[in-house]
Amino acid sequence: MGFVIAVDGPAASGKGTIASKLGAAYGLPVLDSGLLYRAIGLAVIDEGGDLDVEADCVRAASSLDFANLNGERFRTRAAGEAASRVAVHPAVRETLIAFQRDFARREPGAVIDGRDIGTVIVPDAPAKIYVTASAEARATRRWLQLLGLGESADYEAILADVRKRDARDAARAAAPMRPAEDAALLDTTDLDIDAAFDAARRIVEDARARREQSPKG
Ligand code: DC
Repeated sequence: MGFVIAVDGPAASGKGTIASKLGAAYGLPVLDSGLLYRAIGLAVIDEGGDLDVEADCVRAASSLDFANLNGERFRTRAAGEAASRVAVHPAVRETLIAFQRDFARREPGAVIDGRDIGTVIVPDAPAKIYVTASAEARATRRWLQLLGLGESADYEAILADVRKRDARDAARAAAPMRPAEDAALLDTTDLDIDAAFDAARRIVEDARARREQSPKG
C-alpha cells in the first residue's frame, strides 16, 4: 500500500482542512468521505425518499457518480444532517466501501477524512489521526462557516445539531465514529489552523519514520 493517512473525527473538528493541507504537503490526493454520504442524503431528498429507510438510501446511492461531487449545496446544514442519517444504514455504508478502498490503494497513497477510515475502511493505514475539539469550539466554527455561505445561522441551534450528530455518529452499530486504537489524538480546541496543521504534520512524520524502520505492506 502507498502512504495512506486516515484523518477521522467529529463534524467541524478541523479534519477536512487538516486533510487537504496534508494532501498538498505530501503530494497525495485527498478524499473527503463525508461528501459521499452528503451526496446520498441529498439524492434521497431529491427523489422524495425517506432518509430513515435503508432501501430508499441504497436506491439513491446506486444512481450517483461518486467521482464527480462538488457544489456548495453539499456543505449546508441540511446536507450534513441528511448524511448522518443515511450513514446509519449498513447497506448504504457497504455501497461506499469499494470506492474508498480503491482510492486508498492507488500509488503513491492518499489522505482520506471521515469517521471510520482508520477503523474500517483502511485499518492498516500507516498514519492515523483522530481530530477532536470541544462541541462549543466546533459549533462556533460551523456557525462562522455557515455565515460565510450566506445561510442564516443560530449558534444555539448549531450547538444542538453538533451534539445530536456526535451522538448519532458514535452510537450507530455500523462503523461507529471512534478513534482507532493506534490513532494519534489531536485536540484542536485551542489551536488555530496553522498550529493544528503543524501538530498533524508531526504525527505524520512520526508515522513515516516508523514505516521506514519496518517497511511492510
Ligand atoms: O464529515 P462530514 O461532516 O461531511 O460527514 C457528514 C456525515 O456523514 C457524518 O455526520 C456521518 C457521515 N460519515 C460517516 O458516517 N462516515 C464517514 N467516513 C464520513 C461521514
